[in-house]
Amino acid sequence: MDIKKLIINCFSKQVRENFNLLPENISVPPNTAMGDFCMPCFTWVKALKKSPVQVAEDLTKDFDYTSIVEKTQVVGGYLNFFLNKKIVSLNVLAEILASKDSFGKSDEGLNKTVCLDFSSVNLAKYMHIGHLSTTVIGNCLRNIFNFLGYNTVAINYVGDYGTPFGKMITAYKLWGNEQDLNAKGVDYIQDLYIKFCQEAEENDDLNEQARICFAKIEKKDPEVYPIYEKFIKISIDETQKIYSLLNIKFDSWRGESYYSDKMEPVVKELEQKGLLQDSNGAKIVDLSEYNLGACLIRKTDGSSLYATRDLAACDDRYKNYNFYKSLYVTDVSQKLHFSQFFKVLDLLGRDYACNLHHIFYGRFSLPDGKIASRKGKQAILKDILSYSINKTRNIVNESKTLTEEEKTKISTSVGVGAVVFSAVKNEKIKDVVFDIDEALDFNGETSPYIQYTHARCCSIMKKSKTSEDYIYDMDYTQIENESSYELIKTLNRFPEVVKSACEKFEPCYVSRILIDISKAFNKYYNTNRVVENDKINQTRLALVNATKIVLANGLKLLGIDALEKM
Ligand code: ARG
Repeated sequence: MDIKKLIINCFSKQVRENFNLLPENISVPPNTAMGDFCMPCFTWVKALKKSPVQVAEDLTKDFDYTSIVEKTQVVGGYLNFFLNKKIVSLNVLAEILASKDSFGKSDEGLNKTVCLDFSSVNLAKYMHIGHLSTTVIGNCLRNIFNFLGYNTVAINYVGDYGTPFGKMITAYKLWGNEQDLNAKGVDYIQDLYIKFCQEAEENDDLNEQARICFAKIEKKDPEVYPIYEKFIKISIDETQKIYSLLNIKFDSWRGESYYSDKMEPVVKELEQKGLLQDSNGAKIVDLSEYNLGACLIRKTDGSSLYATRDLAACDDRYKNYNFYKSLYVTDVSQKLHFSQFFKVLDLLGRDYACNLHHIFYGRFSLPDGKIASRKGKQAILKDILSYSINKTRNIVNESKTLTEEEKTKISTSVGVGAVVFSAVKNEKIKDVVFDIDEALDFNGETSPYIQYTHARCCSIMKKSKTSEDYIYDMDYTQIENESSYELIKTLNRFPEVVKSACEKFEPCYVSRILIDISKAFNKYYNTNRVVENDKINQTRLALVNATKIVLANGLKLLGIDALEKM
């Protein structure tokens, strides 16, 4: 229920027009003693040279006190609104129960396509802890855009190109064998790569061999190219396992190599438009007047660069998808790169340049010594996920009622959920030190806490033997209390929160509301008996059902399983 809009409708038509009143003017006061909603009057106090009380009098002339607003009050320059709790409660409940998994959905994105470039891992390397945020934030934004009616294209712009592949394949040819490669996969490729880097420190000739080898990959040399293809396949299969654990699917895997021979048109265009300059033998676009330094387009040896491939890829995406927005999710360290290539596209006259967004986030790390990182490198995502799943398994194993199958399902969903939630819990830009014990705390502000609350709702529903479609016999007096009303108001915020999460590219808004709902529910449930003397209180049960619906919708957006049983 769009309460803000309904409040606006209580003002007389004339007042609405004269004061240009909009739902955006209305906000939530810091505490409930000041009403359910409020509206600042400062601007008019100044403009009309009247006191706040006088302004409020003008505003509330012919105000409709018979529908949703029961009372208004002026305090400290604000007009506070006190709502009719019965109307709010019954209508919000009815709306959620009728909308079910559509509660919060909208069609604002109808016929608009949003491209999301996220995860974009470098292949034949481990997916490490640094890839968690891009993967999880990107997927969550994708779900949110879908929920609001947009078409989305999830793009895994894989790093499948560049001299590291020359090194890996050179090492493989020198020291590797197919049997080990088949058995150990990416682990083996990484071992070879590390060996290569160590040996190359002593022997520079190896680097030369790697360069030659990479040139052969580019020319699809019949001896080397099949090895490259095999490395890519092994690596994609490995990353797919992680994506399936995380419930993530990509629509496109068009990576860097795809664009390696498609950059000529954009480089030519830069030249024709007089944007390309020589700089010690390299080609650059000088962006110093925009405080963005120089964007490197071509290296001294003629080879292309990260930025050049991104320019080509961006044109390609626009051509294919005619996107309304195109998002790139990476850590903050790539900020300059994105600002540069967005600016270059702008200078090239691409109208779509203003619809490109770099979504960046802070560092996600582990406290020292918690999960051993392999070979002195960063901790590997696979290890972090299994660590979390195993820890959950230890807790779940204590249960005497769950079946083996249920235990496996629960430990996977909760273990993965805890890791996922940690990456979307706070504002993106904040650094996160991931503490597994904290993330698995069923009483903390965590995913297990939300999942548990959801499961609790499910179990109450199950006991009541009613389905989600049940028609309740509503009696407002049964929920006429503070904790019920707070829960209902919090549930009702969900659609608006999802909308702003989408506008601000901030999944944490969704995480926060789910925590707020869980807290409000647990308060409600402690003081409102749903089943008393074997008799079900239908109105209270309706509120349990509504909570379950909204929690499930929110968890789905985060990419976390809403378990029925825990
Ligand atoms: N593969 C890159 C990395 O791991 C991220 C790619 C981000 N996307 C892009 N279009 N540049 O750093």
